[in-house]
Amino acid sequence: MGEEQSPSGRRRAPREGDEAPAGGTLRAPVGMHDVLWPESERWETLVALFARHARLAGYGLLITPVLEDTGLFRRAVGDESEVVGKEMYELTDRGGRTLALRPEGTAPVVRAFVQHRPSLPWKVWYATPAFRYERPQAGRYRQHHQLGVEALGSDDPGLDVEVISLAAGFYAGLGLRRIDLSVNSMGCQADRARYTSALRDYLASHADELCDEHRKSFTLSPLRVLDCKRPQCRSVTEGAPKIVDYLDEECAGHLASVRGGLDALGIPYRLEPRLVRGLDYYTRTTFEFAASALESAQNAVGGGGRYDGLAEAIGGPSTPGIGFGIGIERLLLACDAEGCFDAAHSVPDVFVVDGTGGGAARDLSAELRAAGLAAVRGFDDRSLKAQLKLADRSGARYAVIVGARELEEGTVTLRSLGEGRQTTVPREQLVAWLRGEAP
Ligand code: HAM
Repeated sequence: MGEEQSPSGRRRAPREGDEAPAGGTLRAPVGMHDVLWPESERWETLVALFARHARLAGYGLLITPVLEDTGLFRRAVGDESEVVGKEMYELTDRGGRTLALRPEGTAPVVRAFVQHRPSLPWKVWYATPAFRYERPQAGRYRQHHQLGVEALGSDDPGLDVEVISLAAGFYAGLGLRRIDLSVNSMGCQADRARYTSALRDYLASHADELCDEHRKSFTLSPLRVLDCKRPQCRSVTEGAPKIVDYLDEECAGHLASVRGGLDALGIPYRLEPRLVRGLDYYTRTTFEFAASALESAQNAVGGGGRYDGLAEAIGGPSTPGIGFGIGIERLLLACDAEGCFDAAHSVPDVFVVDGTGGGAARDLSAELRAAGLAAVRGFDDRSLKAQLKLADRSGARYAVIVGARELEEGTVTLRSLGEGRQTTVPREQLVAWLRGEAP
């Protein structure tokens, strides 16, 4: 069995059978990963940055259960969608309820809205795992993680612009430069029905040229063909009717306003008429961010859109909404590919070395932590020499040594680990010294 995670945090592609190696050592399930320190520190920073962007735009954190009634996703995302029809993790609990591990983050948010009826507009952000039984490969996992926002209660195109610009600002804030935004409109139900029928007719006249899968299924779900990345389907859909030509006046006006808003903010985008996305709840605006530094099959680092009929579809009041989800793993792969967001790993301020054999390290590290300094120490009654070795390895800037003499005199020995210089400091002045505020 190879390493799943290299010290840099980069992963090798998981293989089938990874979870059951000879010898019976237990491993994480295929397509699911542990995120070890220090890689996890990047995640911590990423979530904090996202929280900041979201909060600046008035979005509050929402936490919902990782399990939901299976019916929620069937009704919201659609039984016919790959995500629900083929990939959802379902289980029956001990009480006989059928539950699903969330395959995505939007339906649970709208369910929470319908359940609690908070006042509108309701703007939330989340950081959540999502589970899809996909074929694992680099950038595609069975458990991935999403950062997202959802805004309910307005169909103002200005809200679409706010949501899209929030994501764009977040990518830019990480230093990502090679992110392409595609925008489309799925129109309203009537538009979609007219369009679907025209698309079906077009596909029927090119049925022989479609890939095997879609030659069989295009009559039932013609929109899915637009999503197909296989070259046969790509070349057929190149000339397919475009949904933007089937929008009614209101939906066309909505799209025009969204585009105007993006232009006004200087956010570059491309109108992509084939962008239908794989989840059934979308109406009007859809969008996707692709990292051109990644391989095209897994280069979507975020996507979203409007879902004005979703709250009603799951039994709530008619309430428009829009949001996006950003895949954390893919985002970090894109950052690696572009050489940005190489978050510095934090190191402790001090390593406390105990030369008393008593409780000096315990007491001093507690004192320093209470003053807001990162203090680590050794355990297991190691020798002074061994503790100093640990101090070197810890990356701390200073070792603070407390021996019997220092304890008696009320001092500590402060050793700068880079330079090896030592100085004696009165214990009550240690915090000021470490903060660079010494008299
Ligand atoms: P989605 O496009 O299915 O949309 O997923 C959002 C993002 O999650 C993708 O752009 C990608 O970065 C990441 N992602 C999806 N599946 C995987 C996977 N198997 N492995 C790694 N990363 C993955 C949604 O889920 C919608 N709920 C987004 C949304 C929010 N729409 C409106 N509001």
